[in-house]
Amino acid sequence: MSNPKKRILITGGAGFLGSHLCDRLVAQGHDVLCVDNYFTGRRDNVAGLLGQKNFEALRHDITWPLYVEVDEIYNLACPASPVHYQFDPVQTTKTSVIGAINVLGLAKRVKAKVFQASTSEVYGDPTVHPQTEDYRGNVNPIGPRACYDEGKRCAETLFFDYWRQHKTRIKVVRIFNTYGPRMHPQDGRVVSNFIVQALKGEDITVYGDGSQTRAFCYVDDLVEGFIRMMATGDDVTGPVNLGNPMEIPVRELAERVIRLVGAKSKLVFRPLPVDDPLQRCPDITMAKDLLKWEPTVALEDGLVKTIGYFEGLLRERGEI
Ligand SMILES: NC(=O)c1ccc[n+]([C@@H]2O[C@H](COP(=O)([O-])OP(=O)(O)OC[C@H]3O[C@@H](n4cnc5c(N)ncnc54)[C@H](O)[C@@H]3O)[C@@H](O)[C@H]2O)c1
Repeated sequence: MSNPKKRILITGGAGFLGSHLCDRLVAQGHDVLCVDNYFTGRRDNVAGLLGQKNFEALRHDITWPLYVEVDEIYNLACPASPVHYQFDPVQTTKTSVIGAINVLGLAKRVKAKVFQASTSEVYGDPTVHPQTEDYRGNVNPIGPRACYDEGKRCAETLFFDYWRQHKTRIKVVRIFNTYGPRMHPQDGRVVSNFIVQALKGEDITVYGDGSQTRAFCYVDDLVEGFIRMMATGDDVTGPVNLGNPMEIPVRELAERVIRLVGAKSKLVFRPLPVDDPLQRCPDITMAKDLLKWEPTVALEDGLVKTIGYFEGLLRERGEI
């Protein structure tokens, strides 16, 4: 059988990325256990799966150990946007570091393969462009973003130490900006901010002069990359960059969102937040070679789907 049924644990499974991964793996027939403390995730994100025999959801905080029998673990638990990870920075570091120790301990005990959702933030404010996996980064260890950036760096260290010391089978990916339905409407990230502001007919806030670029990957493409990475042989550990290398200036993104929503919003400019990188773009040569992966969804198509999601959500909440 090309797709034998596996028992798969997804930490952070009720979040934006985690819930899409749950959808895909449940549809493939695997037994999926979604673990989440619902800090930024929502039960609604996985509500559609609750009736399925091969899906289970558990409220649990991964800073505490978990004892379950599984074949594969995707470790996604961690707030991902600055507003959320800076809300309780000590808890953010604990989630990344103690959470990694707990999932790695579990993987070691049950001999599971374990996947880490790392981040392009490990590159900090990069001096190399685009970023390749061997670039070691330019992170401020004491700034307001450090709880996330350094937490994720330490988690990578732990993954590679478990691999060297205990031969744990690890898969580390570094995720670049991803967008799509089920993003948190108040996460302060550029795509969700712009869409929500445009749908509400508010002016659109652009930080800096909007010339800084970002590259956005649609969630379905990213999840495909996760599954391909998990399926690689034991010799493939990563880190592998996953993201869309097509850059767009933030200002242009704002203008595109206004056009697609059909809004009358104007752009208003505010100072750039501390340590906000000016440019961030993945080199995905390694993902292309190893995983035969590259993004396929055009920005315009992904934006239309994301706008549709936010429109439904805001209507349901009576906000538009
Ligand atoms: N979305 C992106 O563009 C992006 C980019 C880089 C890295 N990542 C990484 O991918 C992962 C998922 O990101 P996302 O965008 O889906 O964010 P998200 O905030 O929607 O999802 C994170 C999930 O983890 C849960 N969680 C947080 N702390 C927890 C804890 N201590 N115990 C159990 N659950 C906990 C949250 O409730 C949420 O459901 C994160 O690890 C993030 O760092 C995401």
